[in-house]
Amino acid sequence: MYDDSMPAEGTAGDSEPRQYRHGFRNDYSEGAHPRLLQALAQASTQQNRGYGLDRHSRRAAELIRAHVCRDDVDVHLLVGGTQTNLVALAAFLRPHQAAIAAGSGHIATHETGAIEATGHKVLTVPTDDGKLTPAAIAPLLDGHGSEHMVQPRLVYVSDSTELGTIYTRAELQALSQYCRQRGLLLYLDGARIGSALTATGNDLTLADIATLTDAFYIGGTKNGALVGEALVIVDDALKADMRYLVKQRGAMLAKGMVLGTQFTALFEDGLFFELARHANLMAARLREGLARLGVGFLVDSPSNQIFPLLPAAVVERLEALYAFERWQALPDGRVAIRLVTSWATPQAAVDGFLADAQALAAIAAPAPRADATAAMEH
Ligand SMILES: Cc1ncc(COP(=O)(O)O)c(C=O)c1O
Repeated sequence: MYDDSMPAEGTAGDSEPRQYRHGFRNDYSEGAHPRLLQALAQASTQQNRGYGLDRHSRRAAELIRAHVCRDDVDVHLLVGGTQTNLVALAAFLRPHQAAIAAGSGHIATHETGAIEATGHKVLTVPTDDGKLTPAAIAPLLDGHGSEHMVQPRLVYVSDSTELGTIYTRAELQALSQYCRQRGLLLYLDGARIGSALTATGNDLTLADIATLTDAFYIGGTKNGALVGEALVIVDDALKADMRYLVKQRGAMLAKGMVLGTQFTALFEDGLFFELARHANLMAARLREGLARLGVGFLVDSPSNQIFPLLPAAVVERLEALYAFERWQALPDGRVAIRLVTSWATPQAAVDGFLADAQALAAIAAPAPRADATAAMEH
């Protein structure tokens, strides 16, 4: 399915274009799964209504409603994650209201102030593992009790989180219950929901998420689609005028069928979950292989993003062969790197990385094993 005879090309962040054995930088380096491209090619031979009113987008919405086991949710197909977050949050919040996110949350760290640019502050709370809890949110609410400050109104979580961790049903239930008690909306960013829902240890379903949140989105871009995120609005109070608001933000695609055909192909027969399982399987193979070498991890992440801790010298040598992100430098000289696998990651690339890591670790004399174990508890 994926042509690994061509070396991977370097991406933004490299000062010069370079050729790598493989890229583990993200899960959107490959285009789209062939079945989605075929569906798109076929739909392209027909005339389709514009702006998401076509038969493919309607079918995709039907399939998503079936998967969340609710026929009363609104589904809007949008192009990208930042766009979906900003369209949704700007629609859901009144001018004086703010969102709450983990300090590492995507809207707080990697969206160039997109939410703030819509007029809404993003209030952050520190977390160790990227996950929000009622206890973490409570002090922030207590500190925003008067009209001299913005009013926290929406809790933003992502599943999986920026650290590849996932929410259990009990954790999301606790958050949902707390939000309802405190008059807060709960919004879940599902850019990597496929990986989260198929990860080892997951006990959530799309139907649970629709019950526990007010709105969420299902990410296609990072799970085999060319582009596309499906915003699902559960709470009736949030549904009004959404098509106007989507259009006003420039987020309504004239050729909406590009999104509809892809989501239909993803949800018609389980391809969405199949692709996510593959990404997780490749990440697990990397994680287990590195653990066998005595490598520790910054965080215990069961999804398609892992954060091994490697001696700086090994990281430097691996960087000459593979593309990946440096995430965090540790005081003991090790560096946490982020390895991301995708729906298209070939097993041979994973095995090649492990073989190279083993060879380089031997040359560079890695940190002692006891150190690695201590770091895993970080
Ligand atoms: C959790 C999460 N939300 C949103 C986004 C933004 O998506 P996009 O790059 O399509 O705007 C990302 C991208 O990495 C993400 O990881």
